[in-house]
Amino acid sequence: MSTRMVLSVAFVAFVVIGMVVYVLNEGRRADYNILTSTEEYAHLGAELYAANCSQCHGPQGEGAIGPALNRPEWHVGDKNYDETTVQTFIRNVVHRGQYSPQPGIQMPAWSKDYGGPLNDEEIQKIITFITENQWTVPLEYTATPNFVGAFPPNSAQKKMYPSTTQEVLAAKNPAKYGGATPTAEQKAALSADAKADEAAKGPAYQEAQANTEKLRLILGNPDPNKPGEKLDGLKQLIQGKGCLNCHAIGSAGTTLGPSLTEVGSRRDADWLNTWIKNPSLVSGNNRGPNVMPWFKGDNRTDFWPMQPTFMPTIPMTDEERAKIVDYLSNLKTAEVVLPTANK
Ligand code: HEC
Ligand code: HEC
Repeated sequence: MSTRMVLSVAFVAFVVIGMVVYVLNEGRRADYNILTSTEEYAHLGAELYAANCSQCHGPQGEGAIGPALNRPEWHVGDKNYDETTVQTFIRNVVHRGQYSPQPGIQMPAWSKDYGGPLNDEEIQKIITFITENQWTVPLEYTATPNFVGAFPPNSAQKKMYPSTTQEVLAAKNPAKYGGATPTAEQKAALSADAKADEAAKGPAYQEAQANTEKLRLILGNPDPNKPGEKLDGLKQLIQGKGCLNCHAIGSAGTTLGPSLTEVGSRRDADWLNTWIKNPSLVSGNNRGPNVMPWFKGDNRTDFWPMQPTFMPTIPMTDEERAKIVDYLSNLKTAEVVLPTANK
């Protein structure tokens, strides 16, 4: 075959493939046109807003960690609405993110171009939603029972801290008392030994008392005479501080930040206390895993005066922080922590 023939065959193939691709895409273009009605577009934007933005800007754009976005001058039809300025402003901030003058708070970058999760079309949907004033729609999506889920029931945790004299003795001497499958004799021996230890206020009794106190703190019950307050009180505290806007604990909460369900397995009380007090003061080296991915290996932390993190510094009293830290540092899956002297 001559070079010219090869070239003509290649050219014909090129044209034919081009036509086939065009025809195949026709269907997709038609679908796309159906979806681009403004109302539909805004509705899809509302769904994206609920999933990505409502934690910080409020379910109805009323503002929370970030400023209010439901401003009249951003709505099509408002007398001060200037399409080009508004659209460009929102697009730029959402694409690139924005450092905030408030310490420890960031507007994340959302565009894939800047390491974020959204493409241009998705961002345009959100902008259409904001400017079309569709603020009641995200509630349909955010009203899902995010916060209804229970905190981890802590039955596993209770086991971590044997809190009766019997439990302490059994955990310390599995061979003597038969572990998980005791005989009737071993059960009777355990019961008798526990009674004797309690009467003498012996070591197993002391340990059980200490563990009960630990449990009381873990369960967040400020008043041991009101058992009903236990986890509910703690959940109210943590939810009231906004932690569940970004974190999941058990089946409650959301997924913007890392799940805290087992955070006690990777973070100790000291670290948690420092972090929650002011996340932006914890240096990059001491953050470990779970830093938001678009800051991984990002040298900005070397010279940026504050450490970029999306976790805000949330005002609370020392006592409130102590309760949260104690609960979180004990959130781990370990089944049983053996009492100290295991002999
Ligand atoms: C982690 C919290 C957080 C999330 C999530 C978040 N933002 Fe923000 N956003 C902020 C903060 C904080 C600011 C203010 C930054 C500053 O102080 O300049 C801001 C600013 C903005 C602004 C500019 C407002 C202004 O007047 O400067 C827009 C627009 C905006 N966000 C839109 C969005 C959209 C759309 C989403 C979802 C795709 C989103 N944000 C998700 C925290 C967040
Ligand atoms: C605006 C969202 C947001 C809020 C509100 C928030 N956090 Fe965070 N948190 C994050 C993000 C994001 C990270 C991951 C660190 C990073 O990206 O810088 C994080 C990290 C953490 C970590 C470390 C987790 C790990 O895996 O090691 C703990 C613990 C934590 N937060 C606790 C809390 C507590 C307690 C509260 C409430 C007082 C809270 N957070 C409120 C976003 C938030």
